[in-house]
Amino acid sequence: MINGVMTLSGAWHKLRDDPILRFLIVALSFYGMATFEGPLMSIKTINALSHYTDWTIGHVHSGALGWVGLITMGTLYYMIPRLFGQQKMYSVPAIEVHFWTATVGIVLYISAMWIAGVMQGLMWRAINTDGTLTYTFVEGVKATWPFYVVRLVGGLMYLAGMLVMAWNTWMTVAQGRVVQVAVPMPQAA
Ligand code: HEM
Repeated sequence: MINGVMTLSGAWHKLRDDPILRFLIVALSFYGMATFEGPLMSIKTINALSHYTDWTIGHVHSGALGWVGLITMGTLYYMIPRLFGQQKMYSVPAIEVHFWTATVGIVLYISAMWIAGVMQGLMWRAINTDGTLTYTFVEGVKATWPFYVVRLVGGLMYLAGMLVMAWNTWMTVAQGRVVQVAVPMPQAA
């Protein structure tokens, strides 16, 4: 992560007008978050709370949607126009829209899962003085319901961003042409 941030460090000013760079820097931030959280979750006392809960789902998706998703989208936005002989994607404002729907979508998704996860872990381990469980499983599910609504909204925003990207890619490819790149073969010794 540090290597990635240092690579981008000479180009902070470009963040203002280059939406692709924003994908890359936010992806790196999510990578940092997931790889900071992962070792925490591998500690026995923390895992005793987080395991089986939606906290793990939050961790998974900050890695999968935040890191893997955003870095892939940013890379594709860079490559697609070049592969089809264009200067840039068909619509740069659409890249902006995608960036914001994806980022806000993930933040909603994983914050909901983090809060729900900690709540579930605490509810499942709560015990009355006579040794019985304070909450039934169904009470835990009922308490989690609002967080699933937030998760749904976040996930739909992320999906909507992908549809915008699909449209933008289609339009870019439709007005472009396939560029053939000559790759030099290594010389035999
Ligand atoms: C230093 C980095 C990381 C460490 C040490 C780490 C550690 C962990 C731990 C301890 C769990 C298990 C939680 C549990 O079941 O109680 C877990 C689950 C998971 N993590 Fe990470 N994580 C890291 C980074 C990432 C990243 C970057 C991604 C995605 C790109 C990721 C994806 C996942 C997935 C998919 C699971 C769920 C596996 C399953 O339950 O089937 N992790 N991680």
